[in-house]
Amino acid sequence: MTSDTSKQSVLITGCSKGGIGDALAQEFHTRGFTVFATARNLDRIQHLKELGCDIFVLDVMDQKSIFEAVEYVSKKTGGELHFLINNAGLNYRSTILDADLPSFAQVFAVKVFGAVSMTRSFGPLLTKAKGTICNMGSMAPYFKSPILMAYAGANSALEYLSHQMRMELDPFGVSVVHVSFPGHRRRDSKQLRPRTSLHPPNLAVPASSNSDHQKLLPTLGQHDGCPVRQHIGVKINAEEKTSDGLFGQ
Ligand SMILES: NC(=O)c1ccc[n+]([C@@H]2O[C@H](COP(=O)([O-])OP(=O)(O)OC[C@H]3O[C@@H](n4cnc5c(N)ncnc54)[C@H](OP(=O)(O)O)[C@@H]3O)[C@@H](O)[C@H]2O)c1
Repeated sequence: MTSDTSKQSVLITGCSKGGIGDALAQEFHTRGFTVFATARNLDRIQHLKELGCDIFVLDVMDQKSIFEAVEYVSKKTGGELHFLINNAGLNYRSTILDADLPSFAQVFAVKVFGAVSMTRSFGPLLTKAKGTICNMGSMAPYFKSPILMAYAGANSALEYLSHQMRMELDPFGVSVVHVSFPGHRRRDSKQLRPRTSLHPPNLAVPASSNSDHQKLLPTLGQHDGCPVRQHIGVKINAEEKTSDGLFGQ
């Protein structure tokens, strides 16, 4: 493997086709970055390889997988990483009474512990590059809603984590950006759903359709069919104008 440090590098978790990580990978690639686009399933990121991104399997819940990623990126870049984007996430919508606890915990595990594991493991590479960590959060914690506790709670914890990271990593020259992403979606975030419900039908989360619980969430404004790549481009251009945005270094 050759070492290429002439360009800035970015590693993005959860780049499955059609999602936000995919859109970010394409945007960074267009801007000339060395892009490490990762996912749990290689089939879902093949299109990024065809585009010119470096792809490999990375499960943020699997420490061995993370170590292998660190080793691979180190060899490719000479031991540095300029941007780490903690984008991997899951959604689980359920009333508290119906909640399946392992599913509930998995949302926190991927979003929060996954971001901690990735940051700890890539810390030396980010420090060497005086890089930037971007945590992809959500506006969900700012809305009061039934059934959203796992998702909103995990994103709330991620936001706190971003604050703590910013204070602790600043002395090492590493910046931290937290993005509270609104509800634009093209590929629906993977949904873990309860199989049964203790609730009457109007509160139950249906197994095969979002229609009922969408009625409970009128304020979240989740739009199917939104051109997420276009939205990401707009967001990144907006970030460029700020002093601490993703490209505002
Ligand atoms: N879309 C929105 O409206 C919205 C709004 C606010 C915040 N967000 C946040 O933005 C991020 C991306 O969301 P999205 O809508 O683009 O969803 P998405 O397309 O489902 O992307 C989520 C990605 O995370 C991956 N993932 C899940 N568990 C993982 C693990 N253990 N290790 C590594 N990757 C894992 C998924 O892999 P698989 O394909 O294998 O499941 C997928 O690639 C998420 O963190 C989400 O919470 C999204």
